[in-house]
Amino acid sequence: MPYAESVGAVRDLLDEGKIRMAGISNANPDQIRQANDILGGRLVSVQNQFSPAFRSSEPELGLCDELGIAFLPWSPLGGISRAGELGSTYAPFDRIAKAHGVSPQQVCLAWMLAKSPVVVPIPGSSRPETIRDSLAATDLELGAEELAQLDAV
Ligand SMILES: NC(=O)c1ccc[n+]([C@@H]2O[C@H](COP(=O)([O-])OP(=O)(O)OC[C@H]3O[C@@H](n4cnc5c(N)ncnc54)[C@H](OP(=O)(O)O)[C@@H]3O)[C@@H](O)[C@H]2O)c1
Repeated sequence: MPYAESVGAVRDLLDEGKIRMAGISNANPDQIRQANDILGGRLVSVQNQFSPAFRSSEPELGLCDELGIAFLPWSPLGGISRAGELGSTYAPFDRIAKAHGVSPQQVCLAWMLAKSPVVVPIPGSSRPETIRDSLAATDLELGAEELAQLDAV
């Protein structure tokens, strides 16, 4: 199925009023531009994998920032089986978490949020404790030096 045809079907749903908003997932920069063009500038979000373990979506994040489109990092903590080991796998996340008295997972989400106002991480959670902990990332401010150290991981 040609990409333009898939996105064209979504454009038709928007035009017919059957859906109010359209987002895409796992798209590269060319596909983001193409989808936004086909949708007449109505693309609202891009959901791509992005985490300390998976950084290759930086160009897509940058493009979404430029275009004012929400960028939703999926598996932002590294995925269900690896999220708990984030601190032991990536020392700077652990070190900065200890300095602030918070979890490495909260530092990870704050680091992403600091990249651009269009970033909206979507951590998976099955417990109230982790949902509350992740939510608190919106209030955690990291310094420029800390962000640089995390970027360098
Ligand atoms: N578009 C796509 O192709 C695609 C592909 C995969 C996933 N996704 C989406 O991405 C989202 C999240 O992905 P994911 O669940 O695979 O990975 P994830 O968010 O990286 O990791 C989820 C794990 O993180 C733990 N966790 C969450 N917040 C935490 C915190 N503050 N402190 C410690 N642990 C914490 C959870 O533990 P508890 O369960 O104990 O709370 C859960 O085991 C989902 O909405 C999923 O649908 C999209």
